[in-house]
Amino acid sequence: MKSLETKAKEELRKAKSDIFSLEYQNKKVWVKKARGTFSSALHKFYYKVFPFEVLIPVETKTGKETIAFETAKLDLFREKGILSPKVLFKNDEFFILEDCGKNVNSYIRKRDITQEKMYYYLNLLIVQLALIHNNGLFHGGAQARNFTYKEGVIYAIDLEDSFTNIPLEVLQFRDVLLFLLSLTKTRASFDLDYNYIIEKYIELTNKKELKQSLKKLANKISFLIYLSQIKLINSFLGRDVKGFFKLFIILKKL
Ligand SMILES: Nc1ncnc2c1ncn2[C@@H]1O[C@H](COP(=O)(O)OP(=O)(O)OP(=O)(O)O)[C@@H](O)[C@H]1O
Ligand SMILES: [Mg+2]
Repeated sequence: MKSLETKAKEELRKAKSDIFSLEYQNKKVWVKKARGTFSSALHKFYYKVFPFEVLIPVETKTGKETIAFETAKLDLFREKGILSPKVLFKNDEFFILEDCGKNVNSYIRKRDITQEKMYYYLNLLIVQLALIHNNGLFHGGAQARNFTYKEGVIYAIDLEDSFTNIPLEVLQFRDVLLFLLSLTKTRASFDLDYNYIIEKYIELTNKKELKQSLKKLANKISFLIYLSQIKLINSFLGRDVKGFFKLFIILKKL
């Protein structure tokens, strides 16, 4: 019987992407190849011009460093009782994770999702994000696609991004923003109740200052929000951009 390591190495040679699943002893596992993390020069330039938390550049790491960071963080999460995949194997080139279901985005982006199902996933996601933050940690890529759902529970995945000299509260605020922004991409037939989502997160984390921080951020882009509401301009905006402004209009009114 081939070892998991041997099988993963064979598949890696054929693999077209940096992350893929394979079957091993009737179980699905995920192989993630070493890949450095960095923010582009353009990204850093944008952050200078628009000092928004979502744009904070990530720490530059080599592939090997990224593997060490992500696997250690997954282990730490699990020690703290925050569900995330078990690291089954790691070396300097790749690591292997147990399967934790499908990413939540694939459920909540659906056009035909019901309100009931939407809030079922959203509630679970908010609880998971709050648990991470209440443990004095941050996710680093808290978009819905970086959480998975399996048998009634949510797992945190994709913890590769790290930051230097950024206070924890800022990184947690960035998580909330990335999370809210990712929700604007839903194709659901109804509008999301962002107020509810924000209130629920505050209730769980006691971060009462969140509303003010979100409002302040929205005020920084007031002019863009104003432009987006002009009928002629609005009619040219794509669905995702409209979703983005819908969120910010709500944040402004918090
Ligand atoms: N342990 C796992 N269980 C289930 N699905 C997984 C697991 N690990 C990864 N996936 C799937 O693979 C996708 C990509 O994984 P991951 O987010 O770790 O990689 P990435 O390339 O860093 O992603 P991104 O595009 O967000 O930068 C996830 O969105 C999820 O669908
Ligand atoms: Mg991801």
